[in-house]
Amino acid sequence: MIDIEFVRSRFIKHFDGKTGNVYTSPGRINLIGEHTDYNGGFVFPGAVDKGITAEMRVNGTEDTVMAYAIDLKDRVDFKLSDPAGPKASWARYIYGIAKEFQKLGVPVKGFNIAFAGDVPLGAGMSSSAAMESCFACGLNDLFGENKVSQWDIVLAGQATEHNYCGVNCGIMDQFASVFGKAGCLMRLDCRSREFEYFPFKPDGYRLVLLNSKVKHELAGSPYNDRRNSCENVVKAIQAKHPEGKFETLRDCTWEQLDEVRAEVGEEDYTRAHFVLGEKDRVLAVCDALLAGDYETVGQKMFETHYGLSKEYEVSCEELDYLNDLAKENGVTGSRIMGGGFGGCTINLVRADLYQKFIADAKQKFAAKYGHEPEVIDVVIGDGSRKLC
Ligand code: GLA
Repeated sequence: MIDIEFVRSRFIKHFDGKTGNVYTSPGRINLIGEHTDYNGGFVFPGAVDKGITAEMRVNGTEDTVMAYAIDLKDRVDFKLSDPAGPKASWARYIYGIAKEFQKLGVPVKGFNIAFAGDVPLGAGMSSSAAMESCFACGLNDLFGENKVSQWDIVLAGQATEHNYCGVNCGIMDQFASVFGKAGCLMRLDCRSREFEYFPFKPDGYRLVLLNSKVKHELAGSPYNDRRNSCENVVKAIQAKHPEGKFETLRDCTWEQLDEVRAEVGEEDYTRAHFVLGEKDRVLAVCDALLAGDYETVGQKMFETHYGLSKEYEVSCEELDYLNDLAKENGVTGSRIMGGGFGGCTINLVRADLYQKFIADAKQKFAAKYGHEPEVIDVVIGDGSRKLC
């Protein structure tokens, strides 16, 4: 986690010398259940021990926000009443959360904010959700008497992505960042929003991320395209079955998907095919975890990678290569993590194979792509909180 004193020293330097309150929110991993959240399915995330830390203080103005991104050394001031909002992409998360809080009736006025992070950007570890939930945690404390519920914070984060950042994401990332608990993964049913904590301490195994450093970028079309494909299939199924209620792919069966295959076309069909399979895989992984059967967990992870790469088409050459290296090294399970288009693989590896796998992956990946993958050992940490 980022050192509080580091953030504080920058906050003091860039504003009027006064200190504020400090808040932190984590990024996340996801064991399995990818692109299922906006399809009403299940996800299996956990918060990590890396995230975003912000110092914030009410500045006494009606609606001027003075914001400093410490890592980028970038300062942006803007007014909450400006309908366009700031241009800098990082500042749009602050603007978006503040606007969404105002919609909830929280009387947000001017404030100062400086923040820094240690969750890698564009690595599929949800640095953006970490920002949203961190800023929301701060605004809830400064202006909302901490009355905004955790779920409303999650939804304000998601609405920020939809309304101000151009990503039609689901709720997994913001959920994990807000509700995370040290040592636990969480199985969330994204339709009912019910969830359970699963203590995760796989005896004899390690969970490690390999960051390809191919920057994943969800803003723009490819992520939203996938979502549109899923929605097209649901619409086609609904039209064929007017008696039923089909809101997301969660409500659809394999048979119904097959019925609309010709009509929706191969691309949408294949994408939806992945989603139905992924829904079943999350449930199979839960059963396997409860039985302590990590080999089955791993096998499902490999199946997910195949689906994300060949059916959902959100992989890239580097991630497929990292997956091949995992297989070659006898790793139990490996797959792309998060939205895709770059970022990390998540690997479940037997402790006795760990060193050899990491050394081999570094050496071979560097020989092919000119740089080593970044190795991130997963520590499952707590969700959003006020630090001081
Ligand atoms: C991104 C989105 C999430 C989810 C994942 C894929 O991280 O923000 O809502 O859809 O991709 O599982």
